[in-house]
Amino acid sequence: MARRRGNLTMFGLSISPKLCAFLSLPFIGDATGVMENMKFIPEVLLLSLTIILLQSSIIFARQYENSNHIKTATFYSEQFVLEPGKVTITDLFDIEFPRGHIGIKNFQAELVDEHRNSLPLYEAYLHHYFVLRYFENVTMSRQANQSQPIYGKYFRRNDGVCQGSVNSYSWGLGVDARKTSLELPDPFRIEVGTHPENVPKEYNEEKWLFDIMVIDTRGTEDKNGCIECRCDHYNVKSEDFVSKTGIDGKPMSGDYKGGIFCCEKTSQCKLQKGYNNKQQRKASLKYTVTWVDWDQYQVPIKFYILDVTDQVTYNGSESIHNCMVEYFITPQNTDIGHYHIKKTKIPMKKGGNLIYSTVHVHPGIVNATLYGENGKVLCAVQPTYGTGEEPGNEKGYVVGMSGCYPKPGSIKIQDGEILTVEFIHENKYNTGLMGHFYVYLAEELP
Ligand SMILES: *[C@@H]1O[C@H](CO)[C@@H](O)[C@H](O)[C@H]1NC(C)=O
Ligand SMILES: *[C@@H]1O[C@H](CO)[C@@H](O)[C@H](O)[C@H]1NC(C)=O
Ligand SMILES: *[C@@H]1O[C@H](CO)[C@@H](O)[C@H](O)[C@H]1NC(C)=O
Ligand SMILES: *[C@@H]1O[C@H](CO)[C@@H](O)[C@H](O)[C@H]1NC(C)=O
Repeated sequence: MARRRGNLTMFGLSISPKLCAFLSLPFIGDATGVMENMKFIPEVLLLSLTIILLQSSIIFARQYENSNHIKTATFYSEQFVLEPGKVTITDLFDIEFPRGHIGIKNFQAELVDEHRNSLPLYEAYLHHYFVLRYFENVTMSRQANQSQPIYGKYFRRNDGVCQGSVNSYSWGLGVDARKTSLELPDPFRIEVGTHPENVPKEYNEEKWLFDIMVIDTRGTEDKNGCIECRCDHYNVKSEDFVSKTGIDGKPMSGDYKGGIFCCEKTSQCKLQKGYNNKQQRKASLKYTVTWVDWDQYQVPIKFYILDVTDQVTYNGSESIHNCMVEYFITPQNTDIGHYHIKKTKIPMKKGGNLIYSTVHVHPGIVNATLYGENGKVLCAVQPTYGTGEEPGNEKGYVVGMSGCYPKPGSIKIQDGEILTVEFIHENKYNTGLMGHFYVYLAEELP
């Protein structure tokens, strides 16, 4: 499990390689599953919606303006190799992505095989994909090497709220990717293709990175144990954590029973006896981006991830976030009830109008709720569990989460408002759980 990597400095913080790995920051170095150096192939190019409006009122002119240049493109990432029982973690720098000053309306992704057919979760479990935005100084990055792959690259996190680079991705989902929408309503967009003020000038080229983690559960003894990253299924013992540092920078406790620290690159989950473990297959991430060229009619959105593991402390009025990214349930006493409730309070330094909200979860989720400071429900999210065989409807898997589209302006979060996030799970042994509330806010309305 040892990784030999130097410490990385990002956002003015020093981050341990372990933390990096956990957070899906770029950390290539070991052999990854990347097999082919195929270039990404856009499948559908610039599907322009042509809506012809003859009316000349301003309102219609604006709608025309907006809908006329909505573009959609589908891309395929580089391929990577999956093997029965193996964890594959891959970081793909400079992925194909629409360029220019644009506003992203939607990002949807799923795992496909080498023939571009959807892969079912019960064979290839998409633990997560994360898309990270970075700026590169190409002169500097030429000097990057295996132990410092991100040299010359400056990562730009989302708008918050976890510490450092924790949960810093711009888009990301996992098991729930196929049926969770990340679509923003018109005219709200994630604005990209500009140079943010807090990114140093010499990092001048905007690029995107994919961090992808897939667990191939074909032939495994216990699929659920493998996808929960249960340490005993991966032959990792609690002694192995003695000298390790957790996501919060503190020494890990011996009661770590499962999660991403037990699912590392090339970790092997137990296979059934006699199962042919040589059945490699290639996979890639298919992703569809919807965007518009930026103009005065687009309204920028801020994207926050509120993590239910965040234990906020205060230094005066300054909040200090301690997101752990994942958690586990080991019910000591099942009499407590049928449900496991995890809740935390998170202050929002800057508020805004709630435009969209959804969550990223792992299996076992019952529901998730976001509350305002006054206790009012701002968004209640329900899972969709699959009932069949086909990809997108795999029986027993949480294939999607609902979301909330309040009427813009109807829910306003105040500056400094303390929100509560609550995730309810079935109260049974479960490791590697995540409870990430995605909150999209507009500081201005059109
Ligand atoms: C590669 O990275 C190591 C570790 O940070 C560093 O000491 C070394 O100088 C780098 N090598 C080159 C050729 O830049
Ligand atoms: C990239 O970094 C080098 C070294 O810091 C600097 O001299 C150069 O001007 C930078 N490139 C750009 C385009 O800013
Ligand atoms: C608390 O804030 C003060 C003033 O900004 C700063 O000097 C101090 O280092 C902070 N303490 C912690 C533990 O962050
Ligand atoms: C979430 O599930 C719990 C347990 O079934 C239920 O009591 C609660 O009302 C649900 N919350 C929402 C918002 O659906």
